[in-house]
Amino acid sequence: MIDIEESIYDHPKYYDLIFAAEWEPEFNFLEACFEQYVDRKVTRLFEPACGTGRLIYRFADAGYEISGNDLNDKAINFCNERLTRHGLQQRAVVGDMTQFALDQPVQAAFNTINSFRHLESEKLAVKHLNCMANAIVKGGIYVLGFHLSPIGVDACEEEYWSAEEGGLKVDSGMWLQKRNKRRRIETLGISFDVQTSDKKFRITDQLKFRTYTWPQFERLIDKVPQFEIVDVFDFDYDIENPLAIDDQCEDAVFVLKVR
Ligand SMILES: C[S@@+](CC[C@H](N)C(=O)[O-])C[C@H]1O[C@@H](n2cnc3c(N)ncnc32)[C@H](O)[C@@H]1O
Repeated sequence: MIDIEESIYDHPKYYDLIFAAEWEPEFNFLEACFEQYVDRKVTRLFEPACGTGRLIYRFADAGYEISGNDLNDKAINFCNERLTRHGLQQRAVVGDMTQFALDQPVQAAFNTINSFRHLESEKLAVKHLNCMANAIVKGGIYVLGFHLSPIGVDACEEEYWSAEEGGLKVDSGMWLQKRNKRRRIETLGISFDVQTSDKKFRITDQLKFRTYTWPQFERLIDKVPQFEIVDVFDFDYDIENPLAIDDQCEDAVFVLKVR
């Protein structure tokens, strides 16, 4: 099989096929969070590092005013083209989640699948959280989902996904390659095996993620006093079942509220 080494984020069509398939539980959970944690009506949303806009599209389609940003122009074009195709306004822009300001604050924001861990230093993470706190109204929420590094138990070190639509099949795998505990950086390998009626090839890439134990994340949030953690869930996205978080938790979806 032909093997291409490229950023998987430069292949929004394949990324979206894999990651957009399971949008509904996330969507329903986020709406339940808006209802449960925000005192006012949620009409305006923002997604930092929105990628292909798999969730932006669903929220725009449901009537929310939603915007997003991402460093990758190919993902942003994919996102905006889909919005246009469905008669929805284009609202995603190329931008850095550590350096942005919104024209109008939103009542809620979300960032669910580890994008936050792309910020490789504490300084960038604090910058991001400050931007978010300024982008959200008082009493509004930021739902932030990512994998914590559990203490004293083994972390999950590989994941596989598969999706198929209209003659296109993508099998994806992600596995731990290196963990630098001192620098708190994990290097993950990721691949997309792509199959169409007439070609078959593999795209491989490496992703670098900052690691957080629960105490490390708690200390980070202390550095951004505009935010308080009001609840934590796991990736089952069950609003009825908040976690009693401890050092062994791995899947975490934090509901951060702006004071
Ligand atoms: C795992 S993808 C998630 C995309 C989208 N949030 C989703 O749920 O499908 C991570 C995204 O983060 C983006 N990204 C990484 N660093 C960024 C930064 N500093 N500012 C904005 N986007 C960033 C990447 O380009 C990529 O699209």
